Amino acid sequence: MQDTVQTLISNVAFLVAGVLFIMALRGLSSQETARRGNVYGIIGMLIAIAATLSMTGDRTQPVAFAAIGGGAVIGAVMAARVGMTSMPELVALLHSFVGLAAVLVGLSMQLAHKENALAHRIDVYIDVMIGAITTTGSILAFLKLRGSVSGKPMLLPARHLLNLSMLTGIVVLGALYGMDGETWALLAAAGIACVLGVHLVAAIGGADMPVVVSMLNSYSGWTAAAAGFMLDNDLLIITGALVGSSGAILSYIMCKAMNRSIFAVIFGGFGAAPPKADKSKPAPPAGDVQEMTADDLAEKLSTSKTVIIVPGYGMAVARAQHAVREMSQVLRDKGVDVKFAIHPVAGRLPGHMNVLLAEANVPYDIVLEMDEVNPDMPSTDVVIVIGANDIVNPAAEDDPTSPIAGMPVIQVWKAGLVIVNKRSRGAGYAGIDNPLFYKPVTKMLFGDAKDAIEKVVAALKAL
Ligand code: TAP
Repeated sequence: MQDTVQTLISNVAFLVAGVLFIMALRGLSSQETARRGNVYGIIGMLIAIAATLSMTGDRTQPVAFAAIGGGAVIGAVMAARVGMTSMPELVALLHSFVGLAAVLVGLSMQLAHKENALAHRIDVYIDVMIGAITTTGSILAFLKLRGSVSGKPMLLPARHLLNLSMLTGIVVLGALYGMDGETWALLAAAGIACVLGVHLVAAIGGADMPVVVSMLNSYSGWTAAAAGFMLDNDLLIITGALVGSSGAILSYIMCKAMNRSIFAVIFGGFGAAPPKADKSKPAPPAGDVQEMTADDLAEKLSTSKTVIIVPGYGMAVARAQHAVREMSQVLRDKGVDVKFAIHPVAGRLPGHMNVLLAEANVPYDIVLEMDEVNPDMPSTDVVIVIGANDIVNPAAEDDPTSPIAGMPVIQVWKAGLVIVNKRSRGAGYAGIDNPLFYKPVTKMLFGDAKDAIEKVVAALKAL
């Protein structure tokens, strides 16, 4: 009787946690409700952890407490220490933990229950395969985002054949494992899946990395859902399905925004044209640039009617969002129409710029998407690009051999004047030169974004 009541309470707790996770995702879909969404997620997770602990037996409870407590401490320290610019690496690393956990759970289920039914073996096999691909793929994505290995795509000549052979190997071993549940078949297939994970992610790089990270996020969800079936845990199934499907939707949205095929991402560059230009090193800067001082820019801005600000990764590095907000406020007080233009992959994680601008209290209604501002560019007096590079690179439209060819960009060069603030003529994430810097319409404001914009604000106030 006590067990029945206990199970009922746990099931209700799981249901409540599942609903809270759905509300969290809903909240996170807009800036105004994101904080509330986070709170729902935290409460849901606390309920889920409490219910899980209450279900563990007396013998395993200390181990569960130690594991969850240890994980919580490590997670809190990592979250407190991580800089906003290192967040994508951390996310990629966390995906690898989900994958690894799924593989370990799958293997322990195999070792503990060798004589299982076919349905159970299918669960174990799917869980271990997706988990293994997620683990090694995420570790490579982490290393690429961190800059420990080259971010360039590695396109082997026979890569599709290689992928197909590995996939065939996994299917054949899966059939063998399904027939007699031999551990060696599971382990061999897991080994192949690990190599496949590395190979799929190695084939994608440069500006396409954001899509890979969201795809791995989706895989980590599906592997957790498979683990849920294996462990007969409803909450893991619900949560895994939520993460898997939201990650897949985000990947699709990002692929659309980047004008990339989702299949190219899933199958590691399938259908992608082999690079025509030598991308082993960034092309040397081509052409002369014109510079502008903060004082001259302030003067120009104060006589402008319309200004668009395009923030990028450099604004995050410099933590310049507060200075940028102040500049926008001073200009608005002077009657200038100021808008912010956000590229879908600006920075290093989805919504990176929106989060920074929200933190600096920039009003949401002047923060617009790329598609909303591009038509306004020809009628804009001044565009200020702050620490952005790839997302404003005209080569995406003009140069079919460019690694970012076809990626939609913010067409800043169509405005009356473009000011590009960065520290040097160096390349951005994709490692390529930017012809924008050499256009007659462009002037460079060199320097760290925070320092440079603070100087502009001081000059504006002094006018
Ligand atoms: P990037 O193309 O990476 O350019 C950023 C620029 O900021 C650099 O060229 C750098 O030039 C400048 N910079 C760095 N520190 C600065 C500082 N303290 N002050 C001023 N400028 C500074 O950034 P983006 O235009 O935002 O494009 C994002 C890129 O990252 C895309 O290629 C995208 O695909 C990729 N990516 C995005 C994501 C997501 S989900 N958003 C995830 C992974 C990768 P200097 O060194 O000359 O200053």
